[in-house]
Amino acid sequence: MAIAEDKILVEKIQKLRKERNAIILSHNYQRGEIQDIADFVGDSLELSQKATKTDADVIVFCGVHFMAETAAILCPHMTVLLPDANAGCPMANMITAEQLRQKKKELPEATVVTYINSTAGVKAESDICCTSANGVKLVASIDSNKILFVPDQYLGDYIAKKTGKEMTLWPGYCPTHVRILPEDIIRQKREHPKAKVVVHPECRPDVIALADEALSTSGIIRYASREDVSELIVGTEVEILHRLAKENPGKKFIPASEKAVCPNMKLITLDKVLHSLETMTPVVKVPEDIRTKAKAAVDRMLTIV
Ligand code: 13P
Ligand code: SF4
Repeated sequence: MAIAEDKILVEKIQKLRKERNAIILSHNYQRGEIQDIADFVGDSLELSQKATKTDADVIVFCGVHFMAETAAILCPHMTVLLPDANAGCPMANMITAEQLRQKKKELPEATVVTYINSTAGVKAESDICCTSANGVKLVASIDSNKILFVPDQYLGDYIAKKTGKEMTLWPGYCPTHVRILPEDIIRQKREHPKAKVVVHPECRPDVIALADEALSTSGIIRYASREDVSELIVGTEVEILHRLAKENPGKKFIPASEKAVCPNMKLITLDKVLHSLETMTPVVKVPEDIRTKAKAAVDRMLTIV
């Protein structure tokens, strides 16, 4: 879209945002122009914490459905808008509440730890939630050695290795992160021998094994700001490079693979944000019985981190 058109859209969004007393939250994978208009850009943990701390009446959630839903779980008094109702997370849909209920019957003694990339119905069946930023700390803090972890097998495997806990892993995965292959990291390391390598823990274990660190998206942002990092190979969704470049002029960032694109994150555009504020749709809401149970699992997480 032409720059002049973007400018007009941004002006209209800013005006309407004030009138509606709305806050715009953006995930680190959103299009650059969305990150640039947001009040706050962050990872899943930071975004859910931010949602609980605002005095706005409306949250325009620029991310995917489970993120907006988590805000709706935590803040039922607020109107939560997701500018494109089709912006889902395929991994979150890899387990249903009914499938989790069945699995719990097979493993009655297990503590159910659920990645925040999940539906409200699945969260409602869980003991505690976690994000990629706090999964290791949180699982380490659980008394029991028997854990059922859903839905991301790769984050689960990473946490199991770090904590030494016996974990049963649901076979879900992120279709974007599995596109990053070990040979991509090996090739980039060969081409950029001085670069450090940081990846998201949703990557395959053989990719994580080649990295210096596995971190949440905001963990990657913090890592990049370190003085000893001047060149960084980044194994996660490519749009994170927008924020990395903006906050670290002069440093070099190399995407591990250009194929690591999350099409759902890209569904949110400036014109959809404007339309959402104009029409106050699509609203994300969670039925009250599910919301209160899901909130208990998210609240347990928020008290530990
Ligand atoms: P973060 O919580 O690290 O931002 O990750 C969210 C996500 O969906 C990664 O694919
Ligand atoms: Fe879901 Fe993967 Fe997209 Fe993250 S990058 S929102 S886990 S599909």
